[in-house]
Amino acid sequence: MQAGRLSTARWGAFYLLLAAGLASQAPEQCPHSCRRCGAAVSTVNCSYAGLSGVPERLPSDLTRLNLSHNAIRTLAPEQFGALTRLEDLDLSDNLLAYVEADALLGLWSLLDLRVARNRLKVLPAGALAGLSRLRLLDVSGNEILGVLDFTFRDLAGLRVLQALHNHVVFVSRQAFAGLTELRQLYLDACNLTSVPTEAFAHLGGLTVLHLHRLESSALPDYAFLGLARLKELVVADWPRLETLSANSLVGLNLTSLAIRKCNLSAVPFAALHHLVYLVNLDLSSNPISYIQGNQLRDLLRLEEFHLAGGRLRRIEMATFYGSVSLKLLDVSRNLLSTLEEGVFHSPDALRHLGLNGNPLACDCRLLWLARRRSSLQFVGGPPTCGQWDFLGYAAADMAELLTCRSPRVQPRQPDSVWVEQGHTAVLHCDAEGRPEPSVTWLDPGRRALTNAGRIRAVGNGSLEVRYAQPQDTGIYRCVASNAAGNDTRPIELRVRTLSKKKPFHLKSWPAALPSLSPDLREPPFDVKTLLIAASIGFLSFCSSVGVCFIAIFFWSKSRGQIKHTANIAYVPRSAAASSNGGAGNSMETSRFTMKLM
Ligand SMILES: *[C@@H]1O[C@H](CO)[C@@H](O)[C@H](O)[C@H]1NC(C)=O
Ligand SMILES: *[C@@H]1O[C@H](CO)[C@@H](O)[C@H](O)[C@H]1NC(C)=O
Ligand SMILES: *[C@@H]1O[C@H](CO)[C@@H](O)[C@H](O)[C@H]1NC(C)=O
Ligand SMILES: *[C@@H]1O[C@H](CO)[C@@H](O)[C@H](O)[C@H]1NC(C)=O
Ligand SMILES: *[C@@H]1O[C@H](CO)[C@@H](O)[C@H](O)[C@H]1NC(C)=O
Ligand SMILES: *[C@@H]1O[C@H](CO)[C@@H](O)[C@H](O)[C@H]1NC(C)=O
Repeated sequence: MQAGRLSTARWGAFYLLLAAGLASQAPEQCPHSCRRCGAAVSTVNCSYAGLSGVPERLPSDLTRLNLSHNAIRTLAPEQFGALTRLEDLDLSDNLLAYVEADALLGLWSLLDLRVARNRLKVLPAGALAGLSRLRLLDVSGNEILGVLDFTFRDLAGLRVLQALHNHVVFVSRQAFAGLTELRQLYLDACNLTSVPTEAFAHLGGLTVLHLHRLESSALPDYAFLGLARLKELVVADWPRLETLSANSLVGLNLTSLAIRKCNLSAVPFAALHHLVYLVNLDLSSNPISYIQGNQLRDLLRLEEFHLAGGRLRRIEMATFYGSVSLKLLDVSRNLLSTLEEGVFHSPDALRHLGLNGNPLACDCRLLWLARRRSSLQFVGGPPTCGQWDFLGYAAADMAELLTCRSPRVQPRQPDSVWVEQGHTAVLHCDAEGRPEPSVTWLDPGRRALTNAGRIRAVGNGSLEVRYAQPQDTGIYRCVASNAAGNDTRPIELRVRTLSKKKPFHLKSWPAALPSLSPDLREPPFDVKTLLIAASIGFLSFCSSVGVCFIAIFFWSKSRGQIKHTANIAYVPRSAAASSNGGAGNSMETSRFTMKLM
């Protein structure tokens, strides 16, 4: 108690001294409205001072000047001319709409310049003249529509350029010329329709690039060519981005890549596979529903994978086989029914797991997670299956809950199925187990059947054989499998040929054709037989036609005078219609002559 009171007293004395010291050192020039002037450190803080202009008579040895949150609308020419030692100038949150070409002239020492959240529509090329030592420029939250050629040409020392939350519609080719030292660029390009590849080519030293809100549906090949030193690329809020071309990231050697809040429906494996130094991959908030196994195998150094807030239903086995040091996996807020241990090379390296917000099934596939829960940190809360959460229950209870039952194909269906040739057969395979088994079908050659083609595995577990052919006959196998095992059931398919109809079984023909060898009689549709039958038929047809002609010829000769033509008159339809309306009789009767033979 005693000691406590003593130290309080001591601190109180210290504060008093400090306040007195500050008061006595307050410079006379300090503007009234800027209440917090720390002249000792040559700092003037005029934040929230209700200023409508830059105060006059500022101390000339000033190094930091904070004019943020005021109502400054304009800057006079060489407004800060006397402040040659100023290193930090904050003009954020004012009403600046335009910066005159020479307003900042004379600030030779300036390192950081913040003009965020004003009303700038354009950055005139000369506005930044003379700021050759500038390291940081923040123009975020303005209304800048375009970046003109050579805007930043004097900023040879600039390392960070922040231009998020603007309305950039165009970036000219030479916009970033001169920014040889630029390391970080944050650009909001809301109405650009393509990546300004040529402008970026001037930024050979860039290591961090954040590109937000682009209206582009695809990332074209070689979009970032020239950014060889880039380490971190963030592409965010491109609502129309659906694909990354295979060569879109060529030339990059990234350690961190984020493609967030876009419209990707698949992991862009082809574009990623050369990024062997990638440590952090973030594909969150994309409508990706499926991660194919073994496709990320080249990403040997991957430590973090984020795909939160997507539409993931399934992560295939062996997805992270190549990434032996995966430390963080965040797939929270998806539609996953499970996450199997076999997804990882080994889950030993895993430290952080985000799996909450998924409709997980309580079965043995999550047993590994229950066992490891003490060594894992759950990002965003523990996962739950049913109403059970993985931290709230004793290990023994969880083990009892997380069980599987190997599949069993129901023997209700018949062992063999008959079908007429050309008809459709459906082979059923009802299987049960926990979790719900998946059904695959093998053909008589034990090859797996897909869901396409004439013979296809239908989604509901049945096998459909359309336009059945005799060669489809054989034993098909339905294989039901889940995490606990598999069960197979053979079903025979027999196809009845069409031979029943036998429309050409001409029993009498062989007797009429004794010269035919006996083996020609079977089968009845032999080509030779048909030809012979056809030619005999043709001969008799020709002879009867000939006889008829001769008979007609003689008959007509004997009749003598016969009219050989007939005249047929007709009325065209349209003309008839108009005549009904009383248009007159100008229509003349059309006629043609037909010769009678
Ligand atoms: C400047 O003053 C404002 C309010 O007057 C305060 O919020 C802010 O922290 C100050 N800045 C510094 C760097 O002291
Ligand atoms: C950007 O595009 C949106 C629609 O896509 C439009 O509403 C907005 O006015 C555009 N902004 C500019 C500055 O052109
Ligand atoms: C996203 O992609 C889907 C198709 O994959 C399309 O229907 C939808 O319109 C796209 N959304 C936007 C904002 O372009
Ligand atoms: C790629 O980056 C890694 C580290 O980020 C570096 O060690 C490697 O040398 C780079 N490779 C090339 C080809 O630049
Ligand atoms: C599965 O679908 C096929 C065709 O869509 C149908 O013929 C069959 O009856 C279905 N099977 C079951 C078990 O519902
Ligand atoms: C079915 O299980 C056996 C072991 O019980 C295994 O050897 C076989 O590969 C499995 N077949 C399939 C298709 O999963």
